[in-house]
Amino acid sequence: MIVTIDGVAASGKSSVSSGVARALGIPYVSSGLLYRAATLLGLEARLDLGEAAPLLSHLQMLPLRLEPLPEGNRIWQGERDLTPQLHQSAVDAGVSAVAAHPELRAWVDEQLRRLPPPFVAEGRDMGTNVFPQAGAKFYLTASPRIRAERRAAERPEDVDAIEAALVERDARDRVQSAPAPDARVIDTGPLSLEEVIAEILKGVKG
Ligand code: CDP
Repeated sequence: MIVTIDGVAASGKSSVSSGVARALGIPYVSSGLLYRAATLLGLEARLDLGEAAPLLSHLQMLPLRLEPLPEGNRIWQGERDLTPQLHQSAVDAGVSAVAAHPELRAWVDEQLRRLPPPFVAEGRDMGTNVFPQAGAKFYLTASPRIRAERRAAERPEDVDAIEAALVERDARDRVQSAPAPDARVIDTGPLSLEEVIAEILKGVKG
């Protein structure tokens, strides 16, 4: 069984996926963390994120490992845990350029398709491109203001600046972010985290 949970930036995908996966007793995998790790390593190596080939060959020298822990995925590069650095603003600002390269998307997709089901997969194109055969698909949305307010609770940044950056990232991610035709779209705005999780569990079991 594969459950896909896609959605716009900061729509609650990670928390929801973690809760759903724990309730089902299976792992969840965050595809966004792989794009974020590629971006962090590219920035650290001072590579031009607008060019795919140098970034890809850099990544091939530094194999990454995604650890699908139920309480939150981690990304390791050898002994180094990259996870704490993956949500900094510089990574937020660069990640869409990295995710726009078909070669980088293939690099992420290949790692995800190697994972043994069952699992919950979260991202933008899990239900469309990566796991079109998934048994249950969901797509999370919420207004930019609500998403910015939720993210502002996690980081010491101004809510207006967060909102502007989210809207910009949505626009840059639009190509790969269309909901699958067979996904159930959930507006998480009026719902608590527990309510979204319950809604999805009902959909998975029903
Ligand atoms: O949590 P948030 O929605 O802010 O971001 P994320 O899921 O960690 O994804 C970070 C970035 O990776 C997105 O802005 C996209 O550019 C890219 N991404 C993608 O293109 N396709 C995916 N399946 C997942 C993420």
